[in-house]
Amino acid sequence: MLEQLKDLHTQALEELNGIKNPRELELWRIRHMGKRSILTKALRSLAALPLEERREKGAQANEIKTALESSLEEKRKLLEEPLLTSPTDARRLDYTLPGRPIPIGRLHPTTQILNEICDIFKNMGFQVIEGPDVEWDYYNFEALNIPQDHPARDMFATMWIDADMGGEARLLRTHTSPMQIRLMEKERPPIRTIVPGRIYRYEATDATHESIFYQVEGLAVDKGITLGDLKGTLLDFCHCLFGEERKIRFRCDYFPFVEPGVEVAIECVTCQGAGCRLCSHSGWLEILGAGMVHPDVLARVNIDPEIYSGFAFGLGVERIAMLRYGIDHIRLFYSNDLRFLKQF
Ligand code: PHE
Repeated sequence: MLEQLKDLHTQALEELNGIKNPRELELWRIRHMGKRSILTKALRSLAALPLEERREKGAQANEIKTALESSLEEKRKLLEEPLLTSPTDARRLDYTLPGRPIPIGRLHPTTQILNEICDIFKNMGFQVIEGPDVEWDYYNFEALNIPQDHPARDMFATMWIDADMGGEARLLRTHTSPMQIRLMEKERPPIRTIVPGRIYRYEATDATHESIFYQVEGLAVDKGITLGDLKGTLLDFCHCLFGEERKIRFRCDYFPFVEPGVEVAIECVTCQGAGCRLCSHSGWLEILGAGMVHPDVLARVNIDPEIYSGFAFGLGVERIAMLRYGIDHIRLFYSNDLRFLKQF
């Protein structure tokens, strides 16, 4: 019996060498030291032996058992702890290695400016709504005093979805102004709403022109709204965005759906009005179009222009972001270059 146990001991130790994980180790323990192992059976059978023999063989068998137990413990420690202690073990951990950085996402600069613009107007009591990107000719043009063949259609290079269908044709909206009509069709004054949204122009791109960009439309309609209200609102807005010191200029402009129409410019952010390349040496940067809602537009949506009046404006979001952050190329907004985006 003892001979057999010694052989088993040697074999068990050999097997132990090849063990690589705690699961294998547990199987090894059951095999050699478990209830049905030869060792346990041998220890049990000792009871039947005469006293002298039992003592001698018992001592030796127990010695083997203890030896196996300590080998087991040693191996267990080796499996659990070598991560730190054994410099040659492939599984070792190097706690001094820098961790793998998890890149943190952030809002796109256009979204950031868009949120900021919306917040400014929300604080003034405007509500925020959105409208469809695919629009009818009627809303994008006709209802805004731009009938078929009106020369003002040239102001908006249009991406058409249906061709040659007159007022029934669909298009990708060229501005957010169609939402003025959709709004006034549904709601009665007082109206104070802004409409952020993406717009589309069939245009070649250059440093300051993209075929897809964002606008924020504004509309206020009520009794007694004047050009003074328009000026005050936009002046406040520009000061919030570009600082109290920034000079703001209002000039006449033409849009078919407003009368009078105005163009708003801010003192150039680069040269502070002295004249530079960014402002084409004029000292001014145009940032939005606006005006008093045309009486014909009001009448078309059954709002009596004798009783009500209103102002509207439309501003280019990327343009404002470019001025705020000193970005010199509008294409950067859509190129998704992380080196650019990470700066905001
Ligand atoms: N929709 C005009 C544009 O895209 C801007 C505008 C809006 C002008 C509202 C006047 C009033 O150019």
